[in-house]
Amino acid sequence: MNTNQSRLKLSRRDFLKILGVAGGTAAGGYVLSEYTPWLDYEKQAEDTWMAPEQNSNASMQLRTLVHYATLAANGHNTQPWKFALKENAIEIHPDYSRQLAVVDPNHRELWISLGCALENLVIAAQSKGFTTEVTYPNATDYINIRLKSDTRLSSPLFDAIPLRQNTRSEYDGQLVKSVDLDQLQALPLEPGVVLQFITNHTDLETTLEYVNQGNLRQYADTKFVDELIQSLRFNKKEALASLDGLYTRCSGNPEVPRWLGQIFVAGTKPQQQADVDAKKLRSSAGAFVVASESDDKSTWVRAGQVYQRMALKMTALNIKSAFLNQPIEVAALRSQFQGALGLAAYQPQLLIRFGYADPMPRSLRRAVEQVLM
Ligand SMILES: Cc1cc2nc3c(=O)[nH]c(=O)nc-3n(C[C@H](O)[C@H](O)[C@H](O)COP(=O)(O)O)c2cc1C
Repeated sequence: MNTNQSRLKLSRRDFLKILGVAGGTAAGGYVLSEYTPWLDYEKQAEDTWMAPEQNSNASMQLRTLVHYATLAANGHNTQPWKFALKENAIEIHPDYSRQLAVVDPNHRELWISLGCALENLVIAAQSKGFTTEVTYPNATDYINIRLKSDTRLSSPLFDAIPLRQNTRSEYDGQLVKSVDLDQLQALPLEPGVVLQFITNHTDLETTLEYVNQGNLRQYADTKFVDELIQSLRFNKKEALASLDGLYTRCSGNPEVPRWLGQIFVAGTKPQQQADVDAKKLRSSAGAFVVASESDDKSTWVRAGQVYQRMALKMTALNIKSAFLNQPIEVAALRSQFQGALGLAAYQPQLLIRFGYADPMPRSLRRAVEQVLM
């Protein structure tokens, strides 16, 4: 070894020592200043998902329905919605200030998210004693739900609303019972929307190939990674301040200060992410695609409704699920993926894996008052 190398080795060791000390100090400081034991994430999550008190006041009843709507799945937990309370009606409007310009440039996933909220709202309305008449956003840029008093219709889907979550962990590898799979496959759909189940090994491996390709492209795109970092809440202080976004613990990742989380996410190699998701898909019992005849606002809303209905049905059957939308979000892969799945003219909208797993920490939502127009 020449002197330069040994000097280099020494300085590298010293450097690591310094890093270690600095890291330890930073970690200690972080625990003190950022761990914030007085901020109770679990309490906030419990309050978020708790049923509102019964109230016979008409306006409070509408607020209760909005509460259930906000518990729906939505892209990056941006909660891209605003609600207008009318006499005997509720409108769901897009909040474009919460758009995801990189991953969702055409607002496709934003409108799917509104469809998820609509589905929760309709199910909650029925269980609270209303029939609903939905007007889809063709001419308008919002969804209108007319409400008429009727008898209450209790349903296991309503009971599943506060229990549903997007569970991003590895699953236990068990197959879903065939009676349960039959129930999922028999779920009523919306006009123009279909489901394609992927449960055999060959089709799952083909699907995985497209998920891999999607990950490799997305994680090589700095704009995608920057947008993801903006959506992440790296610790409970951030999560509790915004009540939105992707809190790291909900995905099984630790709490860290933002500066450290940013370095970590920005440094993620595309192949690392692809490997993580490959394990997750291979640990799942299967996957399904929500696909549709057309690709417009009303169809996206209906696709969102079908997804949310499925998610609630799976929750009722104790089946967990999570999205792997990469091959649909990457425009260049979407039609190839459509062909590989044999979807013919049906365009893929969402890809979801499912199986059995323990629940993960729950996500948060903004309060009803914050999303009213
Ligand atoms: C249209 C749409 C796209 C989504 N895409 C992804 C995704 O690609 N990856 C992911 O992990 N979660 C995805 N999600 C799930 C959301 O991140 C999740 O619903 C949100 O963080 C709230 O968490 P919760 O569903 O557990 O309440 C998506 C949800 C919707 C409605």
